[in-house]
Order: sequence, then C-alpha cells, then structure tokens
Amino acid sequence: MDRILVTGGTGYIGSHTVVELQQAGYSVVIIDDLSNSNREVIDGIERITGIRPDFVEGDCTDMQTLSKLFADYPDIKGIINFAASKAVGESMQKPILYYRNNLNTLLNLLDLMGPNGVKGIVFSSSCTVYGEPDENPVTEKAPIKKATSPYGNTKQISEEIITDVINAGAPFKSVILRYFNPVGAHPSAEIGELPNGVPQNLIPYLTQTAIGIRQELSVFGDDYDTPDGSCIRDYINVVDLAKAHVIAVKRMLEDKSDAKIEIFNLGTGNGVSVLELINVFEEATGVKVPHKIVGRRAGDIEKVWANPAYANEVLGWKATSTLADTMRSAWAWQLKLRERGVM
Ligand code: WQD
Repeated sequence: MDRILVTGGTGYIGSHTVVELQQAGYSVVIIDDLSNSNREVIDGIERITGIRPDFVEGDCTDMQTLSKLFADYPDIKGIINFAASKAVGESMQKPILYYRNNLNTLLNLLDLMGPNGVKGIVFSSSCTVYGEPDENPVTEKAPIKKATSPYGNTKQISEEIITDVINAGAPFKSVILRYFNPVGAHPSAEIGELPNGVPQNLIPYLTQTAIGIRQELSVFGDDYDTPDGSCIRDYINVVDLAKAHVIAVKRMLEDKSDAKIEIFNLGTGNGVSVLELINVFEEATGVKVPHKIVGRRAGDIEKVWANPAYANEVLGWKATSTLADTMRSAWAWQLKLRERGVM
C-alpha cells in the first residue's frame, strides 16, 4: 500500500490519524520535531495498531531535513500536514514564530511534492477562517473573515498559498479540511491530547479540573446571545476527525475527484454551549467539574457550528460518536495520564 508522510504525526490529531491510516493499510512515516509532543506517542500508536510507524525527528521548516526524508522514502505518495504551531494566544505574543513555522513548512512541502512524485496533500485548516459567522450552521461557502490572530491568519494564508500553487499548474491535488473543535481521545486511552503547561482549550482544562490538577474551571462569559448565555461550538470527536483524513487521502491518491482542490468542513452539525458540555461530561462520567462564571475571554467567537452536509455527501463521511462517549474518552485519557504518572 502507498506510503503517507504525516508531518506533526506525534501531535494530538496527527497521532489519531496515523492510527487510522495504519488500520486502513497505509504505510506511514512521521516527521515531528517533538516541540509539542513526545516519543512515547509512537509506543501508544504501536500498542493500538500492532505496527510501529517510521519516525524521523526533524523540523519541517528545514528544507535539507525534508529533502533527505524524501530521498530516504521515495515511496511517499501523499502528505497530511499537521506540523504547525496552534495556540491562538501564543501567536499574538510570537507572530514571527507562527508565520515561520506554519508557512515555511507548507512552502517546503509544496516545493518538494512535484519533484518527488507526491500526488496530494491534505491540509489542516480551521473554522477560525469564518471568524464570527453571519449564519449558523456554517457551510464552506460562508465568507472568510479577517483573521483575529496570527495563528488564524496562517491558516487563511496557507489556504491561499495552496490554491495559488495548484492553479499555477502544480502536478498534485489538495484537500483542505476545516476543523471545528476537535476533542476526546482514542477509545483505547493509549493516545490523546497532552497540552504543555496550563491548558488554554476547554476540554483539557475541564478534565484536569475534574481530576483535581486545577481547582476550578472558568466559564468565559454567560452573557452571550445564546440560550444559556455561554459560547457555542461544534465539538468533534478526534477519531471521527482522523477517519476523514484517510478518506481524503484515498480520494486524492485514487483520483476519485476531477477537482484539484477541495475544501470540507469537518464538524458534527451540532452547536453545544460551554455549560451544556460541562453537563454532558458530568452525566457521562459521574464526575463533578467545579466551575465558576467569569468574564468573557478576549477574541472569543460567540457561536459557530458546522454544516457538514458537503463532507457527508461527497466524502461519505459523518461524525458518528456521541458527545457523551467522547467525554468518557477524554476522561479515560486523563485517568490514564495519572496512572502513568505523567500528570
Ligand atoms: C471553547 C469554548 C471558550 C477554556 C480555538 C481556536 C481553534 C482551535 C482550538 C487549535 C469557548 C470556552 C475555554 C476555558 C472556557 N485551534 N472556554 N473556559 O476558542 O473555540 O478554538 O482553539 O488548536 O482554531 O480558535 O476553543 O477550547 O479554547 O474554547 O469557558 O478555560 O470554551 O470561551 O467558548 P476555541 P477553546
């Protein structure tokens, strides 16, 4: 079976995607600089799939590292690019780091694909490109709003770069996937999300509070124009999300579409508020989450959820996990981290 290069493959979404790729029969080589992950993730992938993916420790912004990787693996047919910095707040403090990491990585990959006979690249984009949408649920035709952070801007610029390069006649395809809010962990609890330091995102903060690492979860605002006043998001199970990448890769490598660039929203189609999510977690796990309402977080979108109909129809993909199961998986992962003495 074809080999897929997964950049950032030891990260959160990357590792779940490597599992699904291997289970679908693809060979994988991961490149990751381990800046926001660690080697043990590879052991977790091996425990789940029985296959140890090839791993190169390296930085994708370095052209020589990537050139050597393509020379060592002449059988790479597709790329899934997860290698990127992803913290919205940090990107405000360190914009150069974000533009350099996210854009140079993409440019290097696009530059090397043609000469190395790679047929397609799946790109991790984000619902942040829609900003505060005029209408929910959001379709792929919704206008792109000016990015509110360097992180979001790198996603917008990356989509434009891919489009320009392919329109200029590059000999490969791309599928751009706009994720909503990926959450949860593999049902085996062998891999999951492991943020560095104090989590910025809701679910890791919530599970760390539930287990007692954090005292209390702050709910950022209860005065939004939503039924209970807290913000609404579309929380998508990370394994469901990972499966969409396998379908996207197959679609490019098997030339199932005439289009050279395709864009899909990956979400469930359900908008869930922060307070509702806390409830679902508590009911699904039987564990209480101490929380308090605090002021709004600067830059937060009030409400956004996906219309995933296009991905449902064209990719034949649908998010199938229930939110309760997803919350149980996030909790099982947090318990596993304690069992292993990680945190
Ligand atoms: C979700 C909801 C918060 C923490 C951003 C990016 C997105 C993606 C994920 C890559 C919001 C509320 C959160 C807390 C809270 N990027 N919240 N208390 O902001 O929707 O998306 O991160 O990794 O591209 O835009 O995700 O998980 O931070 O917040 O009340 O302690 O939870 O206000 O309504 P967000 P999030």
